[in-house]
Amino acid sequence: MRVALLGGTGFVGSYIVEQLLEHGHDPLLLVRLGSEGKIQQPERCSLVAGDVEDAHAVRDVLKDSEAVIYNIGIIREFPQDGITYQALHFDGAKRSMEIAEAQGVRRFLLMSANGVKADGTGYQRTKYMAEEALRCTDLDWTVFRPSLIFGDPRGNNEFAKQLYREVICSPLPAPLFYNGLLPLEAGKFQMSPIHVRDLATVVVKALDMPETTGQVYPLCGPRTVAWREIIRLIANASGVTKPVIPVPVWVVNTVATFFDRFAFFPVTRDQLSMLVQGNICDSTAVFETFGIEPTAFDEDSLEYVTH
Ligand SMILES: NC(=O)c1ccc[n+]([C@@H]2O[C@H](COP(=O)([O-])OP(=O)(O)OC[C@H]3O[C@@H](n4cnc5c(N)ncnc54)[C@H](OP(=O)(O)O)[C@@H]3O)[C@@H](O)[C@H]2O)c1
Repeated sequence: MRVALLGGTGFVGSYIVEQLLEHGHDPLLLVRLGSEGKIQQPERCSLVAGDVEDAHAVRDVLKDSEAVIYNIGIIREFPQDGITYQALHFDGAKRSMEIAEAQGVRRFLLMSANGVKADGTGYQRTKYMAEEALRCTDLDWTVFRPSLIFGDPRGNNEFAKQLYREVICSPLPAPLFYNGLLPLEAGKFQMSPIHVRDLATVVVKALDMPETTGQVYPLCGPRTVAWREIIRLIANASGVTKPVIPVPVWVVNTVATFFDRFAFFPVTRDQLSMLVQGNICDSTAVFETFGIEPTAFDEDSLEYVTH
């Protein structure tokens, strides 16, 4: 199948390309200027140069395709540079849906995220809006809602590797965030990270499974771990013992109020808010549907963090 992939040059996109090729599909990628070197197996992909904000480029990439995967997303916005959740999670997705409908490309797969909601952070709200817009189309749609995604980043950003670089390798103790005034709950919020290859396999298998049309799939890994355990696992995988320190969320939020518009500041208020909300779900039934034995988040599967 000829599959248009928007967002095929990043972390998750590189694995989706790999799975598309393994399953005998022809990937057609929208590629921004300067990102050509990030493509997996470029000789086996067709490329269209451009940005999702350019409707001509989106039309070109969807032309003659039989399915679309909208995988574009950002974890941090820089409104002063025109990089916003609204533009990339909602406007870009909506534009792609309209072009798909106009060009008769019926199958549309949307990468959303676990925990999206109408009254959430800007990240969660705009992804939720894209889901709602997709539901209102006549397209044969499927929505994927992954939790935190882990796995070898292949030169892209990925949370475990980022934690290794910025927290484990730092001379400071690792922060165990908590809401409120008392540190009793410090670092206890929970995550069920999903391995990037499992996610990409689900997405690509869905292309050949008509029964996945009209479905929303929560995608979490088989192991749920508290934040403090995540720190311990990454430290163990890198062979160090890491001291920890409780840190109240309000302190970071106060500092972030002044600095989180600058790229050098490690975390935004929205990111922190989503982190302490936790990020868990049960995807046992989903993995059964897709015939996948999911990879657990443990020291063995984290071995890449020090590479
Ligand atoms: N990583 C996670 O833990 C996580 C969790 C839940 C959901 N998700 C979702 O999964 C998807 C992939 O995330 P990721 O971690 O792979 O992110 P990523 O590595 O940053 O990749 C983002 C992709 O979007 C493309 N993109 C960004 N702005 C664009 C624009 N203006 N026009 C065209 N393409 C643009 C990037 O292209 P360039 O290569 O040119 O930058 C890249 O291909 C996103 O929708 C994200 O919200 C991720």
